[in-house]
This record gives sequence, structure tokens and C-alpha cells, in this order.
Amino acid sequence: MSGKFGAITEILPLDLRLGCRIFRLSRLRAGARRGLRPTGRPPRIQAGPAAGSHTLHRKLQKIGESDHKMSRIWNFSAGPAVLPETVLQEARENLLSLGNTGIGICEHSHRGKPFMAVAAEAESLCRELAGIPDDYAVLFLQGGASLQFSMLPQNFLTPDKTADYLITGMWSEKAVKEAKAFGRTHEACSSKDRNFSYIPDSASYSDAPVYVHFTSNNTIFGTQFRAEPTAIPAGAFLACDASSDIFSRPIDVRKYGMIYAGAQKNLGPSGVTLVIMRKDLVAAASRTPATMLQYRTHADNESMYNTPPTFGIYLMMLVFRWIKQQGGLAAMQQHNEAKARVLYDYLDSSALFRTTARPDSRSLMNVTFVTGSEERDNAFVKKAEAAGFSGLKGHRSVGGMRASIYNAFPPEGVTALVQFLKDFEAAG
Ligand SMILES: Cc1ncc(COP(=O)(O)O)c(C=O)c1O
Repeated sequence: MSGKFGAITEILPLDLRLGCRIFRLSRLRAGARRGLRPTGRPPRIQAGPAAGSHTLHRKLQKIGESDHKMSRIWNFSAGPAVLPETVLQEARENLLSLGNTGIGICEHSHRGKPFMAVAAEAESLCRELAGIPDDYAVLFLQGGASLQFSMLPQNFLTPDKTADYLITGMWSEKAVKEAKAFGRTHEACSSKDRNFSYIPDSASYSDAPVYVHFTSNNTIFGTQFRAEPTAIPAGAFLACDASSDIFSRPIDVRKYGMIYAGAQKNLGPSGVTLVIMRKDLVAAASRTPATMLQYRTHADNESMYNTPPTFGIYLMMLVFRWIKQQGGLAAMQQHNEAKARVLYDYLDSSALFRTTARPDSRSLMNVTFVTGSEERDNAFVKKAEAAGFSGLKGHRSVGGMRASIYNAFPPEGVTALVQFLKDFEAAG
């Protein structure tokens, strides 16, 4: 996608509520003109569940999720994860009518002007926030980060070539497993010896790898690279799975050949994957048998070779706007450091809880901690859930608890959690 489409502001009025009101009025007038509704009443939109969805509706009601009056609870889910509330409110309005178009965001053709404007703004904000140079392609794909595990080697690895992988958790293990189907792989380092509780200090690369792949944040184990791996062999490009910390801090895109991330932690809903790739690599990639699995297909067609995940791209655009309003990636980093500090400081002072990650490798996104007793951990998670702290149960491979505090997680939620932890500890 390039900047050739009209800016979204040409199509979406700044005050969307005003836009919706105009839309409703014009529908009324159109209806009256056609003599369809002499009373001038707009057609009723059913607020309840669609036919056939009563069982689901009842279930949701039971757990409180469809009660619109209910206030939101603290969502520590590792992903899909909390999104900025203002983004959700704006999306809610635009589900019925995107600005004053009279057509909801999910109902617009991806070839139409309104959606083209959304996609163009998503790309341009993405470029602006991360300082992505022109010689990099920005792609909105599907298949999650998991498809990138195999798409990357499929495009760049051949049986006579080697790709190096830094093994720092379950996601990098999954990534290297996929690569083995296409060529040789070399594990340049691994922290498996201590259940991935740290980021190795160094790596030992193979002679001439095509690329070096690493996972910048290990969602399950609560560890994060402080900076990119260094001393990458000449000729190799750096590829990064940044699914769980993308846009949580400034990024020097020039250091990378490729960055990819499923959206569902820091960028939007699941179903859309952001890929940032050097254009010369896109051009040099091999021609895989499947057209859809070639990066060039998506780059040549501005991510619209097939129907793209339109709602996901739209929500990503809103999240990008939100990040910009917050002050960009540098501000995100400050917020994230401040939030994580509050939690780690308490955990370090606690006699009951302890963190599982080595201090120098701790993640700002996923804070993993245990009591040392599985029974106690379970009791804590249960009590926390009942008190409105959701998603704190740790991944089974670490146990204990995990608080995921991505960009959109509010600092008040961290303060509330710390108070809850203190009270639990004090209760003995
Ligand atoms: C670091 C990381 N990589 C990859 C994945 C897999 O992503 P997806 O479900 O989008 O395929 C996840 C999911 O949680 C993740 O945290």
C-alpha cells in the first residue's frame, strides 16, 4: 500500500457521533422520500442476540460479558489482550456506519474508497511511529505469527542453506521446527537449560546463515531482549518475531531484514499479522509453490491480493492513532517501564511471591511470578479472578502467575494488582 489513497479524514468526519447523526437523518429523509416509513421512524436495529445465538448469549450473560452496564475488569490476558477503551468505543460506533458512509466497517468492500483510506492511514501511521524507511514494505497478512514461522524459511531457506535461531522459549522452538522442513538450521544459543528463564548473553552463529531469527519477547516465560542480537554474520539478515512487544518501545527498523507480529497483544485483534520487510529481500525471496505464501504477492498487491482482514486493519489503524496520541513509541516505553517497575518492585520486596525470570532478562510486557507452592498459586489465581483480576494464571510450562501488561493495560490496574497481592500476602 502506498500513500496514493485519500487520507481517511477526507472520508471520516472528525466527530463520528455527528457523522452518525447525519447518517441517521439522511436515512430518515431517504425513507420518507421513498414513502417507506411515513412515520419517519428509522428501521429498528435489534439490540439482542441474533436468531440462533441464544445459547451463546445466555452463556455470556452468565459470565457478565454481555451486560453493557457492567464496568470492565482488569484483563491480564497474554493475548488476545486488552485494547485501549477509546479505540473500542470508536470501533463500536463504526461497526454500524464507518463515519458517515452508512455502511459498517466490516461491511465495506476492501476495494472501496473508505476502506482504502483506512488501509493507507494504517500503513502511514505504522511507518511514522516506527520510522520505517521507504525501502521497507509494510504488509498486513493473515495466518498469525505461526504462519510466519514457516513462510519465512519457505521464502528464504533451501536445503543447502542454513538459518540461525536464538532459542529463548516455546515460540522460537516452534519457529525453528518449521524451518527444518525447508533447509538446515543452527541453534545459535538456547536458554532451555533453565526453563527459558533468561536471555543468553551471547550467541554462536554458523558460518554463513541466510538469516538470524530471534523472539524479542518471550510471552510465556516473561523474558525480553534488551536490545537486538549483535555481531550478526555478514550477509545474514535479522528476522524477529516481535508478536508480544511490538511498538512497546522505539525500534531501529534498519537493524532488521524482517519484523513480524500477530496483532493480538499490542496492535489490535487477532486475525491480522504485521510484517515489515526490506524490499530487496521481498524481491530476492524464492517463488514458493503457493502464491499466497510469497511475500512478493502481498507486496506487489499492497496487501490486497485477496480479501484482507479489514476489521483487524481498521482496529490497528485506531491503535496506531492512540499510540501517536500517547506520544509515540518513546512515550510507550516510558509508560511500560513505569508500570512494570511498580509490579517488579513489589515482587522483589515480597516474602511470599518471587519472579521466575532472571532480573536482567525480565519482560516489561509479561511479568511471571510464583509463590513456590502450586496449591497457593491456584488459590491466589482463584481469589484474584473472583476479585476482578482476569487472566493471571501462568502458562503450564512455567506455572504460577503471569500478568500481561501490554501497551493498553492501564497503570491503575497494576496498582490495583499490587494492592491485591499485598493483601493476599498479609492475609497469610
Ligand atoms: C512471541 C509469540 N510468537 C508467536 C505467537 C503465535 O502467534 P499466533 O497465534 O498469532 O500465530 C505468540 C502467541 O502468543 C507469541 O506470543
